[in-house]
Amino acid sequence: MIQKIKGTYDVYGDLALKHDYVKKLFQAVCENYNYKYIETPIIERSELFHRGVGDTTDIVTKETYDFKDRGNRDLTLRPEGTAGVARSIIENKLYTSLPLKFYYEGSMFRYERPQKGRYRELRQMGVELYGSSNPISDIEVISLGYNFLKELGINNVKVLINSIGGVETRNKYKKELIKHFENNIDEFCDDCKERLKKNPLRILDCKVDSNNKLIKTAPNILDYLNTEEKENFEKIKEYLELLEIDYEVDNSLVRGLDYYTNLVFEFKTDIKDIGSIGGGGRYDNLLESLGGPSVPSVGFAFGFDRVIDVINELDISLPTNNDLDIYIMPLSDNELYYSLSIINDLRMCGYKVDIDLLNKSIKGKFKESEKYNAKYIVIIGEDEVNNGVLTVKDTTTKEEIKISQDELLDYFDMNI
Ligand code: HAM
Repeated sequence: MIQKIKGTYDVYGDLALKHDYVKKLFQAVCENYNYKYIETPIIERSELFHRGVGDTTDIVTKETYDFKDRGNRDLTLRPEGTAGVARSIIENKLYTSLPLKFYYEGSMFRYERPQKGRYRELRQMGVELYGSSNPISDIEVISLGYNFLKELGINNVKVLINSIGGVETRNKYKKELIKHFENNIDEFCDDCKERLKKNPLRILDCKVDSNNKLIKTAPNILDYLNTEEKENFEKIKEYLELLEIDYEVDNSLVRGLDYYTNLVFEFKTDIKDIGSIGGGGRYDNLLESLGGPSVPSVGFAFGFDRVIDVINELDISLPTNNDLDIYIMPLSDNELYYSLSIINDLRMCGYKVDIDLLNKSIKGKFKESEKYNAKYIVIIGEDEVNNGVLTVKDTTTKEEIKISQDELLDYFDMNI
């Protein structure tokens, strides 16, 4: 038997209904905020992620699925969605009409150690807003995510925020961090020793060394922000309060992708072991670093699978409805011919309709209608065909009525 690959899973049955509901709700919320759908390829040139996400990040150094295609090109299965959207904006010159507001959803791939809330094929739902450096746009994307979670019934959400400043601020801050850590770097894990040289900010959110007292006493990035960066961060906090979004400033939040500038944030619940259910921030230099013009940008992505995990942990029952409207029941093969146009008309009118495909007994057909939770059964026997009058059974009240075929659509229009 061929089995699925570690870190992937199949979606069917109730889980498929949940996925479908969550995707549609995300789409509806994004449309309310006037975001437009974008879809970019799952495979891209490896260089996009090296330059976009960053050569020294864990994602690019340890987690990407890289391969050569038959034309000897270096390709990578996308580990995240932001770089692909940026590439598309440059390649299609979409930046000529700003602002741009996009949302997307789909599979990403990261070679991580599979565990609860961590998959190798992970799904993300995200938004990207291009063109505005005004904190109102930072707030727009955060509130979109927050409201979406509320609509799902996930209420115990905190938004962790931090500012990592612009390039100049960060370079100053990095120097201070190096000074702070370098004499005692032997106390830290091998990854942190590397990080000290390449990206000392990442030491601050190291999972292995999180209890080291040097992390707690590290200089605070907020003390290094310039006046404009400070004012923007204060504005964001003010707006978060205005919108009653539960937030907390977390100075150790630096995020694992290199493109961020200024605001970074994560959506967190208090559920153990699931980690952050979404994260994002501002990335004002990404487009330019990929060869496009300089366009300020902000966005985030939810870990779709983690949102589903939270729904399951909290036992939230989603209003998914898989019930059948009408089960068509020809009593024998003779009535099948007559049934086909009825079923076709009803489906074309938008009703969810089904019929026995396995030639079951009458008892079997009734059982099947129960399995599908059909609201109505249309019984078509010899008499019905001869008289052009059908029997419609309401499965809730158990009432049966006779109506002519001509009246059938009107009847369901009024009752379903
Ligand atoms: P990220 O923090 O790498 O950001 O991923 C976003 C979310 O994806 C995480 O908060 C988490 O919920 C989920 N996630 C990440 N890795 C896994 C995994 N192995 N299994 C399950 N879920 C996972 C980004 O990807 C950025 N592109 C977000 C962004 C958009 N920033 C600006 N715009």
